[in-house]
Amino acid sequence: MSKLIVCNMKMNLSKEEIDSYLEKLENVNLSNVVFCPTSIYIPYFLKANLNVGIQNISRYKNGSHTGQISLDQADSLNIKYYLVGHSETNNDLKEINEKIKLSEDHNIIPIICIGEKERISLENIEKFIEEQLDIILKDIKLSKAIIAYEPVWMIGSNNKVDTFTLHQIMKKLKKVVKKYDISDIMTLYGGSVNETNIKEILSIEEVDGVLVGNASLDVCQLLKMKEVA
Ligand code: PGA
Repeated sequence: MSKLIVCNMKMNLSKEEIDSYLEKLENVNLSNVVFCPTSIYIPYFLKANLNVGIQNISRYKNGSHTGQISLDQADSLNIKYYLVGHSETNNDLKEINEKIKLSEDHNIIPIICIGEKERISLENIEKFIEEQLDIILKDIKLSKAIIAYEPVWMIGSNNKVDTFTLHQIMKKLKKVVKKYDISDIMTLYGGSVNETNIKEILSIEEVDGVLVGNASLDVCQLLKMKEVA
């Protein structure tokens, strides 16, 4: 079975660049790729029949919250995924839990980002992951969720991914997620994934896919990454 590639395109690309990006992806089978473009570009990705995720959602259901987008609104557009807890969105853990709770009544799947802020020992990373998940997933009951382990210090860094340590962490993560009331949980890795390291990262059995930022903005790189996923 193919592994999943989630493209976190952040606040990048102009409308012209999006047009050219989508044109290059025409007629490519992208069933295992999810695109999370800047929100204003989402309709173009939907029109191209691609799997779409939204980069963040509001903790509120609706109302006077200027600049925010609700889960109901995203769901009504047929958006299938949303990122939550990404380190660039500055959500606190309680807020992340509230957001995930909202998706209990929807089919839209949360891609929950967790990861330590700075380099710490393997033992401390494992402890950190368990503690974070206990708060984030407290009293959550879902049929499907995706956890993306993303060490914050690896994001956009181009640091080498230490696949030996990553394997230990992902094994632990797979074990830990079993205790929550979520029937189907996928576990991804994110942080400086690119065309040169993706194969080794995806060769780790417990890595079900990757969350890719910078490298997903370049169609050539994306297609090379797709080839090995
Ligand atoms: P990066 O970003 O691939 O550029 O490190 C990943 C992310 O922020 O999700």
